[in-house]
Amino acid sequence: MASYDVIVIGSGPGGYVCAIRCAQLGLKTACVEGRETLGGTCLNIGCIPSKALLHASHMVHEAETSFAEMGVKVSAPKVDWAKMQAFKEDVVSQNTKGVEFLFKKNKIDRLTGWASIPAAGKVKIGDEVHEAKHIVIASGSEASSLPGVTVDEESVVTSTGALSLPKIPKTMVVIGGGVIGLELGSVYSRLGTKVTVVEFLDTLIPGSDAEVQRTFARLLKKQGLEIITGAAVQKVESTKTKSKVSYKMRKDGKEAVIEAETVLVATGRRAYTKGLGLEALGVTLTERGQIATDKSWRTNVPGVYAIGDAIAGPMLAHKAEDEGMAVAEVIAGQHGHVNYGVIPGVIYTSPEVASVGETEESLKAAGRAYKAGKFSFMGNGRARATFSAEGFVKILADKETDRILGAHIIGPAAGELIAEICVAMEFGAAAEDVARTCHAHPTYSEAVREAALACGDGAIHA
Ligand code: NAI
Repeated sequence: MASYDVIVIGSGPGGYVCAIRCAQLGLKTACVEGRETLGGTCLNIGCIPSKALLHASHMVHEAETSFAEMGVKVSAPKVDWAKMQAFKEDVVSQNTKGVEFLFKKNKIDRLTGWASIPAAGKVKIGDEVHEAKHIVIASGSEASSLPGVTVDEESVVTSTGALSLPKIPKTMVVIGGGVIGLELGSVYSRLGTKVTVVEFLDTLIPGSDAEVQRTFARLLKKQGLEIITGAAVQKVESTKTKSKVSYKMRKDGKEAVIEAETVLVATGRRAYTKGLGLEALGVTLTERGQIATDKSWRTNVPGVYAIGDAIAGPMLAHKAEDEGMAVAEVIAGQHGHVNYGVIPGVIYTSPEVASVGETEESLKAAGRAYKAGKFSFMGNGRARATFSAEGFVKILADKETDRILGAHIIGPAAGELIAEICVAMEFGAAAEDVARTCHAHPTYSEAVREAALACGDGAIHA
């Protein structure tokens, strides 16, 4: 038995970042992980491996679609799936080993096994019980399926199975037109799979800017993805070689069946709290099964905190990281804070989609007066030079004060460009502040400045 100031349960981006910050703040810290490797879903079977496959498949797509236009002659690219998988595994391993190194560097004890909390101040792993003044639950989330759909991770898969399919399927039905469905659907579509996305609501990526949704759907269709919206999946029946997906159109009740070699279920995730003993401990959960916390990530049980996907809010690695750092500061007696109004969301498709803050729809619903400055990448020299001039930047600012309220980008490096707006929003900047900031030429970031200019006297290159 060992005694700690803090034991963090879970080593995903929430947990490992929390553990590092605790150690940096002088707290004796341990982090428990049940998996063999550190890094949680994100590093092992989520963000990182999917980005490796997105990049590799993007290269294939570029070679097929843009090389010839630029005067680069190559024969049609061939995909070595085993090698692509090995590349992905190597990227994952570099990242998980990186966290191991950081734990050693920061003198964090790594405890291996699945933890439970038998009582406040105690963490049980197997037969061992350790003591901790503070326990942070960062146990993450798991894929949630649908009634009538049985996931076997072979023919009917979640993102976990989809990252490691034994071969590239000829056909795939993706249930759910959200982030996972469109990222992994894009990967396989670029590798030659005929991908059909079936989405329950009337648009893809529900909740995001409506103009971005429309542009995104158009560009994905152009890339060969078939998209069926407003369709409720009823059931999936599988044999060894194929699955039948039955769905009903919500508008007119018309029913249809699509066959596919692989079905990817990407209809959301739910908090993962199994085995922690929360019920016996008396920890309050929300109606949705998330751990209920106050503004300082305290649960109702003294000394027990929770962060990340296991609590309310967007299920994003960077939201969990921010909460991890902030709760460490709270435990160390400081004032940890997360600005939930400035959490960017990025979809790593091609083009990328990124957003932060309010949408036009949310501002209209709240009755707020705003102005929208929009700039198309068609007017951006760099984007034209890199065959990525599709999409736009839209900045939303308060009509009276010009303060930036949100931004929506679809286009090249959108996930990088959004950071500028996040910093601006964090500093309470006006669109004019961005517009008057010198941006290097020729860069994609000039499109952000132009959108800011469009909130005022007008963009130059529009
Ligand atoms: P999601 O919530 O993004 O999308 C799920 C989609 O499935 C929604 O569009 C929903 O309307 C649809 N849906 C629900 N029930 C359905 C049904 N019966 N038939 C058809 N469609 C149905 O969830 P997703 O994509 O599974 O991702 C899970 C979580 O992981 C999300 O919170 C997401 O933000 C996060 N994530 C983030 C990534 C990123 O930041 N790039 C990458 C991957 C996941």
